Amino acid sequence: MRKKLVVGNWKMNGSLARNQVLLVALNAMVRPGSVDVVVCPPYPYLSQAQALLKGGVISVGAQNLSAFNEGAYTGEVSGAMLRDSGCDWVIVGHSERRSANGEADGVVAAKVQAALDSGLRPILCVGETLEQREGGVAEDVVGSQLDAVVSVVGAVLVSSVVVAYEPVWAIGTGKTATPEQAQAMHAFIRACLVLRGVAAQGVKILYGGSVTAVNAPQLFSKPDIDGALVGGASLVAEGFSAICAAAAAS
Ligand code: 13P
Repeated sequence: MRKKLVVGNWKMNGSLARNQVLLVALNAMVRPGSVDVVVCPPYPYLSQAQALLKGGVISVGAQNLSAFNEGAYTGEVSGAMLRDSGCDWVIVGHSERRSANGEADGVVAAKVQAALDSGLRPILCVGETLEQREGGVAEDVVGSQLDAVVSVVGAVLVSSVVVAYEPVWAIGTGKTATPEQAQAMHAFIRACLVLRGVAAQGVKILYGGSVTAVNAPQLFSKPDIDGALVGGASLVAEGFSAICAAAAAS
């Protein structure tokens, strides 16, 4: 039985004042239980989140990291720096970074390796565009995104990575994959990992893309959906805590 995991990806949202309200409310609303909960604020707010959540059940993650350890990489932040500022988790290869920042599969794989080397738990995002789904190549795309990481990181270490299936067409669109569509891709991802020698029964596979408190229970009822990577709904304490409660209850 895999423990459910719910991760809030705040993207480029927040301010010291707004975060304070949100984090204090989340700390009060998210109950300890059979779900792990992580919030991923923008870099400047990691220490604030760490301080406000200290001693509670919610962990802190970052939304990205450099593939390099240190040096002349202006604007970049390393895994060691994230560990230093209290992060346990990091999102890697989000589709917004793949498309807007040109992060190719090889870069994503190097970042997963860098995260593991620094003692962070990477949340590796994979997923196809609408065009790719309609063209019948969704599984090929997701399979090659996984392959790129397994070939760099190796099957043993990949078993400690969390995978987030985020179909690009479902992100921020209000158009969620149906629980059946998501389950089918999650089962495919697990099968792919098994084929590549990964101990995939223990690997958590999260769904992301317009997850809300309304659609979460049905998604979480599927056997290969181990939680959610939540964007917009993670910015509202009531909505995000309801998604966490749905995960704990499933
Ligand atoms: P939304 O939940 O806003 O669709 O965003 C999903 C996402 O990209 C999480 O990483």
